[in-house]
Amino acid sequence: MRLIEAADYQDMSRKAAAFIEAAIAEKPDLILGLATGGTVTGTYEQLIRDFRSGKVTFQRAASFNLDEYEGMQKEDRNSYHYYMEENFFKHVDFQKGKNHLPDGMAQDMEEACREYDRLMEEYGGIDLQLLGIGENGHIGFNEPGTAFETKTHLVRLTPSTKAANARYFNSAEEVPDRAVTMGIASILKSRQILLLASGMKKADILQKLADEEVTEDIPATVLKQHSNVVIIADKDALSKLTKEQKKVLGHD
Ligand code: PGA
Repeated sequence: MRLIEAADYQDMSRKAAAFIEAAIAEKPDLILGLATGGTVTGTYEQLIRDFRSGKVTFQRAASFNLDEYEGMQKEDRNSYHYYMEENFFKHVDFQKGKNHLPDGMAQDMEEACREYDRLMEEYGGIDLQLLGIGENGHIGFNEPGTAFETKTHLVRLTPSTKAANARYFNSAEEVPDRAVTMGIASILKSRQILLLASGMKKADILQKLADEEVTEDIPATVLKQHSNVVIIADKDALSKLTKEQKKVLGHD
């Protein structure tokens, strides 16, 4: 792991966008794994600004998102399809049909999950996976206890995740009970992983990530087994870590 410290949310977002842009400069047909949530919106905003000023193009790139709520129409304002369209895709120049998300409305969910994994393989796998981290250590919607072997699958959201995401809905009860997510095995196949964390809310989980052995109880710990993980975290998210703990996460 390599840890890059950012001053604040904006700085983290700028650094993350620059990281993605460098990967695209090196491989214009980059296969990006994308995430939703509050952590990554600033990165998308920066990528859009840089696209507008001619610094980056997504013409030859493609993307696969981590997850989507079950039973949610693409047009629903709370769906991740909607989030991606509004926060990123419609502002940049991906070719039509190159942005993929799990289908929360699939009739045959198992088949749809297998198809999603098959499609990722057909594209040659993900080059760079952008990830947030849940306060409970989830990555994608792989909640604590998820087996590391899982590929794309349907999951039941934990009360803590539902509570964390309730801010986007009128109430916690409106947050769907289930979601489709790339599995841990799907995520680990990415050639490189970029994990972002911002704010005091993430300080405890980053500390746990540094301290704990690899365990299914804290899904993000599995990233310690991956050979190419970069973490960009801001000062608040790192505020509870000692120098030694930062070293474990790859700080020089
Ligand atoms: P957040 O979500 O960016 O909204 O904090 C991250 C996550 O739950 O993976």
